[in-house]
Amino acid sequence: MTPAASTPTEWQIDEQVAAAVRAGLASTPKRLPPWLFYDETGSRLFDQITELPEYYLTRTERAILARHAGAMIAQAAGARSQRCPRLRIAELGAGSAEKTRILLRAAVELQGSVLYQPVDVSATALLAAQARIEREIPAVRVRPLAMDYTNGFAFEPSGPGERRLVLYIGSSIGNFEPEEAAHLLAKVRAQLHPGDGMLLGVDLVKDEQMLLAAYDDSAGTTAAFNKNMLARLNRDLGANFDPDAFLHRAVWNPGHSRMEMHLESRLAQRVQLAALDFVADFAAGETIHTENSYKYQPGQAEALLAGAGFAPASAWTDERGWFAVHLARVE
Ligand code: AVJ
Repeated sequence: MTPAASTPTEWQIDEQVAAAVRAGLASTPKRLPPWLFYDETGSRLFDQITELPEYYLTRTERAILARHAGAMIAQAAGARSQRCPRLRIAELGAGSAEKTRILLRAAVELQGSVLYQPVDVSATALLAAQARIEREIPAVRVRPLAMDYTNGFAFEPSGPGERRLVLYIGSSIGNFEPEEAAHLLAKVRAQLHPGDGMLLGVDLVKDEQMLLAAYDDSAGTTAAFNKNMLARLNRDLGANFDPDAFLHRAVWNPGHSRMEMHLESRLAQRVQLAALDFVADFAAGETIHTENSYKYQPGQAEALLAGAGFAPASAWTDERGWFAVHLARVE
């Protein structure tokens, strides 16, 4: 009998994760896509980020929604027309859907009940959001869809006399290059019909110090969020990253109008990714680019929506012009 060769550990690997990591760590400069942030720990850290004093985005957008949700929903539903159609609401990248409840309440106020279809990569986040919404606003029927919407998605068709409103709030679109953002919005547009609408939340260009603080907070939560990506690869791909051998870096890139996050290797080191049978060598000071967060110039969101085939209808912002929520229609 031949002696049993040492059996290699069998990894249950997600092919999409494996392909992205292999390609990203083989490229120069190294990069990893931001959707890798959102494992369970990452989603929890992001929720903590939204409550940080420096992270103005969430509370500014929430204030805009709280103030204008009635107008947003009425316009989307065409409430001033003779026969007001029923509105159903879908949401891309819903996460914990914390701010969405403001809009759902406004829809319930207008039409008594509403169907809500949140789409997110994190099934855990969706289940938690569903439980909370059904408990707090029983007139909302929640039908979650756990999937990566960047690879295509299918909304439930709307019935006769119904309109769909697609929410893409929270500056999630900021993670995409302008061309990718245009492509994503065009894909959403292709699934909609005349009368349907899209509500898009974008973060706006502002003072550099304020941006830097928002992506490098004093409590270190954003640093932990960035480094958690390495811990996730340790777990999912049998890698041996030492997250503390990397520094969190937040940089404002004015040429591209975006905040960038990087992980910088403190020293020359070699990392093994057992499940990929892959080795990554780092020079001291070498970086992994983990995220872009685009900040929009005035007029840019309207141009993006129009380029994707939407008719921009209204925009709401806060007094300081930090964040904007745009409603666009399908004509
Ligand atoms: C969820 C993409 C809107 O870009 O501000 C927070 C993620 N990154 N802190 C953002 C994030 C660092 C966030 N988005």
